[in-house]
Amino acid sequence: MIMPDGIHSQFREHSIAEFFKKNRQMLGFSGKIRSLTTIVHEYATNSLDACEEAGILPEISVQLEQLDNGHIRLTVEDNGPGLPKKLVGKALGQMLAGTKFNRYMQQRGQQGIGASGAGMFAQITTGKPVKFKTGTGDGKAFSADLKIDFKTNKPLLENEQDAETAYRGLRIQAEFAEVKYDRGDYSPLEYLKRTALANPHAQILFVEPTGERTLFPRASEVIPEKPREIQPHPLGITTNDLVEFAHASQERKLSSFFVNTFSRFSYGKVDELKAALPEISYEMPPDELRWEDAEKLVNAFRKLRWVSPETDALRPIGPPQIEKALKNIYNAEFMAVAERKPKVFRGGIPFMVEAALAYGGNAGRRKADGATEGDILRFANRVPLLFDAGGCAITDAVKGIDWRRYDIKDFENEPVAVFVNFVSVHVPYTGAGKQAISDEEEIVEEIRLAVMDAARDMQRYLHGKVREASREAKKKAILKYVAQLAQDLPELAGKGKPKEIEKRLLQMIENKYSQLTLEEAEEEAANGNGVKEEKPEGGNGDEEKEE
Ligand SMILES: Nc1ncnc2c1ncn2[C@@H]1O[C@H](COP(=O)(O)OP(=O)(O)OP(=O)(O)O)[C@@H](O)[C@H]1O
Ligand SMILES: [Mg+2]
Repeated sequence: MIMPDGIHSQFREHSIAEFFKKNRQMLGFSGKIRSLTTIVHEYATNSLDACEEAGILPEISVQLEQLDNGHIRLTVEDNGPGLPKKLVGKALGQMLAGTKFNRYMQQRGQQGIGASGAGMFAQITTGKPVKFKTGTGDGKAFSADLKIDFKTNKPLLENEQDAETAYRGLRIQAEFAEVKYDRGDYSPLEYLKRTALANPHAQILFVEPTGERTLFPRASEVIPEKPREIQPHPLGITTNDLVEFAHASQERKLSSFFVNTFSRFSYGKVDELKAALPEISYEMPPDELRWEDAEKLVNAFRKLRWVSPETDALRPIGPPQIEKALKNIYNAEFMAVAERKPKVFRGGIPFMVEAALAYGGNAGRRKADGATEGDILRFANRVPLLFDAGGCAITDAVKGIDWRRYDIKDFENEPVAVFVNFVSVHVPYTGAGKQAISDEEEIVEEIRLAVMDAARDMQRYLHGKVREASREAKKKAILKYVAQLAQDLPELAGKGKPKEIEKRLLQMIENKYSQLTLEEAEEEAANGNGVKEEKPEGGNGDEEKEE
C-alpha cells in the first residue's frame, strides 16, 4: 500500500517553460514541416507587429540553410524598432513576457510565448543557443547568445557584446533539428506568400535551403494606421476579470476605478449602479473588492444600458488592397470583396470581418490529380492560419454556406478561393499555437454573412456566365441550318436569292442572340437586387438589413 506521505514526496513545482518543453505540440511544434512553419510564423509576426507599432514600413528577410548534420539554420532579420538591451533577454527567452498580453489592441501576437517558444525548440532539438543582434538605431546595438533556463523560465545570456552602430532592427539566427523543408501547402513559402497577400505594405525576402530567392515586393507604401489600445467594455468582462483588474488598480476608490478602467463608464453610470446595488461601497479601495460583490456588479452591468464598445481601433486591410493582392496571385476571372461593419462578441470585444472571393484563373487549390478544389484562406489580424483548419470558425462558416445557391455546384470541386480576415483587439484562438479561431456563435455568424455578401456578387457574375454559354450554344445550333435553308427557301417559294436570304437570316440570328431576350431581361430585372438570402438566426440582432 502507498502511504500518503509517499505520494506527497513526489510533489514538485514547475515553471511555464518546463510545461511547454513537455507540451511543445501546444505551441505548434508537432510534425517536421509544421514545426518549421511555426518558427517562421512566430518570428515574422513579431517583426510585423514591431514595425507596425513603430510606424515603419517592414522589410523582412527569412533565410533557411540545410546543414550537413541534418539541421536547418534559420536567419530572420527585420528593420523594426529593435529591442533595448534590458528587455531583449526577457522578450526572446522568457515565456509569458512581452508587450502585448492583456492589452485590448489589434496585434498579431498576444501571449508572450512566440519568440521564446521558437528559441526553446532550437535548444531542445540541437542543444544550441539562439544568436541575436539588435539595435534601436540610436547608436546602441547589442548581440548575444541566448538560452532559456527551463527550471526558472529565465533567459541566460552568453557572449554579450555591445556595439556602437546605427543598426536598427532585430536579427535572429538559430539552428533546429526535427524540422523539414518542403515546398507544399504548409510550407514557410506558402506561409510567407499569404503573409505578403495580407500585408501589402511589407517587403519580404525568402531564401530556401536550395538557395532559391523569392522576393514578395511591397505592393503598397501605406503603413497601416498604428494600432490603438482601447479599454475593455463593461459588458465584455467576467467576474474573474473584474476582480483581477480591481486588485491590480492604483485608483483610490471603486467608483474612479470603474470610470478610468472601462470604456463607456461615466460617473452617471456609477450613479445608476448605486441605485441598482446600494449595498456596495463605491468609496472602498478597489483592491478590497471581494468575489461576491464583483459577481453582483458584473450581473448589474448586464442589466444597464451601455453605449456600444468603441470599434474604431480596428484596422482592416480594406477592399482595394485585398482586391489588388488577390489579383496579383490568382489572376482570377472574377473577384468580389465584402467588408462588414464592426460587431462585438462576448458582449464587449469589438471585431470585424473582411471576406473576398476569387473565381477562375489560378484560384482554388490544385489537387494531386491536377483538378481544382475550393480553397479557404484564413487570416486573423492579417496572420495566415495554415493549420488546424477543422476546428476554426472560418472553416465552419464557409462550409456551412449552401454554395449551390450561389451557382457553385460543389465547393470542393470548383476554382474558387474564399479569403477571410478576422480583425479584433483580441483573437479567441483555440490554442497557444494560434492557428484556429474559436467557433463562437456570434463570430461564425458574422463570417458567414460576410462571405455571403461576397458570394452574392459572384453569383450574379456566374449566372450571367451560364446564360451567355447557353445563348452561344443555341446560336451555334441554329447557324448550322442557315446555309441549307438559304438554298431551300427560294426553291420552295419560287422567289428570292439564296445569298440575300442567307445574309438576312444571319442578321436575324445575330440580333436575337447578341441581346437579352425580353423574357431574360425581365427575369434579370426581377433578380437584379440580389438572390434571396437565408435569414440569419440569432446573431447580434443588429445585422444590416439584407437587400
Ligand atoms: N522583431 C521584434 N522587434 C521588436 N520587438 C520584438 C520583436 N520580436 C519580439 N519583440 C518583443 O518581444 C516580445 C515577446 O515576443 P513573443 O513572440 O514571445 O510574444 P508576443 O509576440 O508578445 O505574443 P505571442 O506569444 O502571441 O507571439 C513582444 O511582445 C515584443 O515586445
Ligand atoms: Mg509573437
